[in-house]
Amino acid sequence: MGCFNCYGDSSVKKPVKKRNNNNNNNQCKGDDRAQPITDALNVSPQNGVKDESKVLVNQSAVEKDADASKRPSADGETNAIKARKFTFAELVTATENFKADYFLGEGGFGKVYKGHLQDSDQIVAIKQLDRNGCQGIREFVVEVLTLSMADHPNLVKLIGYCAEGDQRLLVYEYMLLGSLEENLHDPRPNKEPLDWNTRMKIAAGAANGLEYLHDKMKPPVIYRDLKCSNILLGEGYHPKLSDFGLAKVGPSGDQTHVSTRVMGTYGYCAPDYAMTGQLTFKSDIYSFGVVLLEIITGRKAIDETREGAAKNLVAWARPMFKDRKKIYKMADPALNGQYPVRGLYQSLAIAAMCVQEQPNMRPLIADVVTALNYLASQTYDPQNPSNPKSTEPSAHMFKGDNKQEPFIGN
Ligand SMILES: Nc1ncnc2c1ncn2[C@@H]1O[C@H](COP(=O)(O)OP(=O)(O)OP(=O)(O)O)[C@@H](O)[C@H]1O
Ligand SMILES: [Mg+2]
Repeated sequence: MGCFNCYGDSSVKKPVKKRNNNNNNNQCKGDDRAQPITDALNVSPQNGVKDESKVLVNQSAVEKDADASKRPSADGETNAIKARKFTFAELVTATENFKADYFLGEGGFGKVYKGHLQDSDQIVAIKQLDRNGCQGIREFVVEVLTLSMADHPNLVKLIGYCAEGDQRLLVYEYMLLGSLEENLHDPRPNKEPLDWNTRMKIAAGAANGLEYLHDKMKPPVIYRDLKCSNILLGEGYHPKLSDFGLAKVGPSGDQTHVSTRVMGTYGYCAPDYAMTGQLTFKSDIYSFGVVLLEIITGRKAIDETREGAAKNLVAWARPMFKDRKKIYKMADPALNGQYPVRGLYQSLAIAAMCVQEQPNMRPLIADVVTALNYLASQTYDPQNPSNPKSTEPSAHMFKGDNKQEPFIGN
């Protein structure tokens, strides 16, 4: 989970890196003026272990609200609190006392281990809150509540949690192929780079997960921490969004935004949100645009090893959107030229719209989903590159979809 003030000096406020990261430079929790999910669910914000345990141990308030929002989910089940409560001893057993061999990585919340639940014979990922780290009880509670209320094939499943004494742990389904970040920027040795079709499938899946948060959840949720390290990949590269500790209930009624302390990860944070603290659904759309650019270009959101404007992916990409001749240069060299030219244009057109400076110019997530579902359905065959197999009608998002090249620009 990211928990960093994404506002200001990039040398100080970098996203946390997995493995051996050091969170000392990152700003942590703050008093948010926005309505936290805990309020929306009718439970008090949790600052103390005691109060928070009360909520989690005695889940009546949460369950009441979950009942109120019961509705059919994508797979036909209803949303109810499904998270199981684990004892610390059970999780010690599952990880053989947090054995180093089972260490998967580390983020702002703490260390993550692979574990085996003996009673259900299930492989899981167990995230242990680092009490000296930059995230805390609040993120833990928001994560449990958000994921307990959510049910979508593109959101990671929370199997349960442990709140015992000082220990706070989260137990998730295990995502076999790790994060999109690792796969794009730090692939395992001898691993083939992600191919075009897989990239589009991941982008479309992530967009579907975000659409669920924005348009289907009640109350709607702003994710606030969309980035490649929070998109986890399961079997067949099926993507799922993870880490909801920073999530906020979206504006309601006549409100256009919620006011919050600026949190997120540098490089993904919308400029309007960073400057004003006014959080909108369009802040997530900007972050999604950055992720999509990373997927297409293979570049990192922020890359300190590059020079000048190239350090920042959006700053590098913006002038290139306007120059047709340069569009080809934006494709990840690791693709080795194996991508559909039209698909490249169209995906870049979507990314360009998402990262527009003006939030009201950015598309709604439903339109992004339509466009990316279409692109993901266009199976690209490197042996027969001019004949993608489309299974869906064309998306309305592309201006002049029957033309060879879509509009790109902002
Ligand atoms: N459910 C899971 N299944 C498999 N691996 C996971 C799972 N959850 C997290 N991981 C791995 O654990 C590592 C740390 O994840 P974590 O979410 O704590 O940090 P992060 O996303 O890198 O940073 P941040 O704290 O900013 O979210 C990552 O490498 C991720 O791939
Ligand atoms: Mg994460």
